[in-house]
Amino acid sequence: MIAIGAGVAEKEFRLVKALVSKQATCSVMFVDISTDLLNQAQATFAAGGNVSLRAPASADIASSDFLIDASRAKTNANALQIFTLFGVLPGLVSNAPLTAIANALNPGDLFLLSFNLIQEPGTPSSAPPSLERLATFYDSPAARAWLQEILHEVGLDPATANWRVSAEPRPNDLNALATVTAQITTQAPTQITWHAKQASLPARHHVEVFRSHRHTSKSAADLVQALGLELVDWQVSPSGEEGVALTRLPA
Ligand SMILES: C[S@@+](CC[C@H](N)C(=O)[O-])C[C@H]1O[C@@H](n2cnc3c(N)ncnc32)[C@H](O)[C@@H]1O
Repeated sequence: MIAIGAGVAEKEFRLVKALVSKQATCSVMFVDISTDLLNQAQATFAAGGNVSLRAPASADIASSDFLIDASRAKTNANALQIFTLFGVLPGLVSNAPLTAIANALNPGDLFLLSFNLIQEPGTPSSAPPSLERLATFYDSPAARAWLQEILHEVGLDPATANWRVSAEPRPNDLNALATVTAQITTQAPTQITWHAKQASLPARHHVEVFRSHRHTSKSAADLVQALGLELVDWQVSPSGEEGVALTRLPA
């Protein structure tokens, strides 16, 4: 299993436990942009035992290095490879990482990916417009507090930036119907620090601090098909907020 955007690998852990309970022998590799989270994921799995851990890879999956490495990753044609991408697709800028992962699959390999969902157009007119509802949800005090944590992390005082939360169609090759974004605009020149790197933002500079592409079941299925993959199963969470596609590269 190659867990991309593994974070602390909560979902991946459950999946591996289920596989091992079926007598599967698993080797697992984590990929994430955050080394802290990679260390936590390794520790969780080491404690779980019965699974061999490969060296984790700290990488930005949108970077060209990852895209090249992934396309060369077909190393083990004798074992079933399962790629997972949970909670990452909604924040991508383009589908290039998905194409790279699809290219790394051998026929029969599986790729599990999760989508953030939006209600299907054409639902009863009594329902509030879903784009408006989404933007309102992310503009709530609770969601703002959570989003502002990101600003604190980079050393930016949220009180010194103007916020705008929007949910609107944004045509992209990820085939999303709409994208929720939170954007800040600096009021004065601002210095930020991120993973020991510093950057200076001029006054009135716009920064997108959150992005969530929204799919319907159909737009997700169309994206899977465009990647040359077969949709084996599709599960939606009880809240209707998240869908997971189990896909396979046809033999
Ligand atoms: C919502 S968490 C998913 C956690 C885990 N997969 C799960 O479902 O339990 C998304 C993870 O993707 C990582 N991530 C987001 N963008 C990334 C990128 N461009 N390259 C690598 N990792 C990324 C984040 O660091 C974070 O750990």
